[in-house]
Formats: sequence, C-alpha cells, structure tokens
Amino acid sequence: MSSPALVVSSHRRAYLRRLGASALAPLMGSSLMQRPALAASDKAVTLRFSHVVAEETPKGLAAKRFKQLAEQRSGGRIRVLIYPDAQLYGDHDEMQALQLGAVDMLAPSLSKFGRIGFPEFELFDLPFLFGRVADVRRITQGPLGQRLLERLGRQGMTGLGYFDNGFKQMSANRPLLTPSDFVGLRMRVQASRVIAAQMRALGAQPVDLPFSETRRALETGVVDGTENPVSNFWTQGMHEVQSDLSLTEHGYLGYAVVVNQRFWLSLSTADSELIGQTFREALAYGNTIADSQNDKALASLRQTGSTRIHVLSQTQRERLRSAVEPVHKALANRIGLAWMDAMRDALRQTLKG
Ligand code: LMR
Repeated sequence: MSSPALVVSSHRRAYLRRLGASALAPLMGSSLMQRPALAASDKAVTLRFSHVVAEETPKGLAAKRFKQLAEQRSGGRIRVLIYPDAQLYGDHDEMQALQLGAVDMLAPSLSKFGRIGFPEFELFDLPFLFGRVADVRRITQGPLGQRLLERLGRQGMTGLGYFDNGFKQMSANRPLLTPSDFVGLRMRVQASRVIAAQMRALGAQPVDLPFSETRRALETGVVDGTENPVSNFWTQGMHEVQSDLSLTEHGYLGYAVVVNQRFWLSLSTADSELIGQTFREALAYGNTIADSQNDKALASLRQTGSTRIHVLSQTQRERLRSAVEPVHKALANRIGLAWMDAMRDALRQTLKG
C-alpha cells in the first residue's frame, strides 16, 4: 500500500499534468516577454511561496522575514503566502508547479536543479570542495553564481539569488567515521547524481527520496541513513530515529530562490524592485542566522542525548575525502568541463582574495 504522503503527491502530480504542457509552453523562451510598461502600482499582488523544510530553519526563517518586510513595505498590498514543510508541493513536483504557475516562488536546494536540466548546479554538491561557507558565498555572489542563475530563464524561472544553509553531516544507526562504515547502507539522497556518486564511492547505496518522506523512510527502515545540515536533521525529528550523527562536514547545502518568470514579468517595475530588494535583505538575514541555527540545533541534540554525536579526527576526515575524490573526475562530464574549470578559477580567486 502507498503511504499517505505518496498518495497526496501522486494527486498533486495528476493536478499538475492537468494544468498541462500547454500552460508551460508560453513560459519557454519567455525572455521575449516584456514587463507591462504601465502596470498599476496599486494592484494587489499575492505571492505563493512553497518550500519543503520546517519554519524554524534558515530557509523557513528567511521566508518569514521576506513576508514580514514585503507586506510591511507595501502597506499590505503585496501578500506573501508561505507553505512550509512541503504542505503544498514536495521535491518531486515543486519545480513543475512553479513552471506551471501553481506557485510563484520556491527556494530549492542547488542539488535539485540537475534533474530539471541544469546539471551544472551539481558543482556545489562536489564533496569536500569547499573549506568555508564564506568561500561558497563569494562564488554564488560573483560572476559564476550570476551566470548560473541566468540559465534558469530557459525553463521559465527567474533566479533572485542564493543563500546558505551550511555544511552537511552524516547520520545512521551507527557512527560513520571511515568509508568501511558506509558499506551496505542505504542512504537517502537528494536528486543529485553527484551526491549519489558520492554515496556509491563510500560503498553505500543512494536512495533518492523527497525531503518530506525522509524521516518516515528512516523510521520504517526504507533507508538506513542520510546527510543534511543539523538544522534540517533536528527540525524533522530525525534524531528520534537515528542513533548516530557524524560531523563529517563533507558537502555544502545552499539554495537558489526562483520565481515563475511570467509572474515576475507581470509585476510593475516598482513591485519587482520592492520584492527583489526585500528578498535580498531576507537572504542576507538568512545567511546571518544559518550558522547559529545549525549551532542551536546541535546544542539541542546534545541536550536531548537521543543521538550520539561524533567528531571526526583529521585522519578519518582525510580517509573519507580520498574515498570520494574520484567523484570529481567521474562526474566532470555530466557537470560540464567548462563549468568545472569556471568553479576551479572562482575558487582560486576566492582563496587569493
Ligand atoms: C534536502 O532535500 O535534503 C534539502 O534540500 C532540504 C532543504 O531544502 O533544505
């Protein structure tokens, strides 16, 4: 029997199919579309923002800050409706919902753009690529980040910017300190070929599941473990069903905020400026709290004592790093060699600066 979550999501998919490809077609190549020159600035605007995580996460809190600022600055004329926790759409249908105009705004993780035709976003999933979140931020806010966002126009989306969650850790019902600890485990992953390859390189079997189904899959034994920053682990209650969290910091998790391009172009210039500016502020706020939300979650985990927390030694981390190193080369063709070079250059610049 299907789980209720799966039934709901297949209904959503059917609904999205009914909305149909004909609705999607005009979005494609819509760079030809023009913003209305004389859009009324007193027009009420409702913006539906769907995301898959809890409200008390960096993404959830940044979304709430955006709502508060946008509604306040527009005197309530712009309304922002937030649907957290995959209430409306989950990972497997939210992008399509955005393209069809069933929602207006999303903030998917960068790992989720590969499956809709942008494998270059999986650059950010390469394991042990970044030493500090600050380095990633300089890259996303620089020319490479901008070039990546511009590509989204081909799929009817406008990218408004990026923000961070932080580094991912590994959990299971055993410590995951060296590659041999992963052998035979089924590990839930996001829909990223790079992350799947990383799990295989460690000897585990990757299982691509929507975020909203992960806790239940861990609880029922559909999967044995997973990876995520601590704020996601804690707010989903994964600690209740996983005995061990290993602080591997092996990869980065960040987000791109995207809006439906047709919705975006239907706004008056004043409204798109207000929303764009407000969002930039909300993202900056999200970045300032990401670290502390993860630290707070870790402190809460330590306090409840339900999960053993393991700090890796340098040698253990180095072993994990060498086990997954071949993933960079193996996935270079999928990501695109030019994008790999661009990331290498951007990192070099960042580390120099
Ligand atoms: C995941 O699916 O693990 C994350 O991308 C969830 C999120 O949006 O933080």
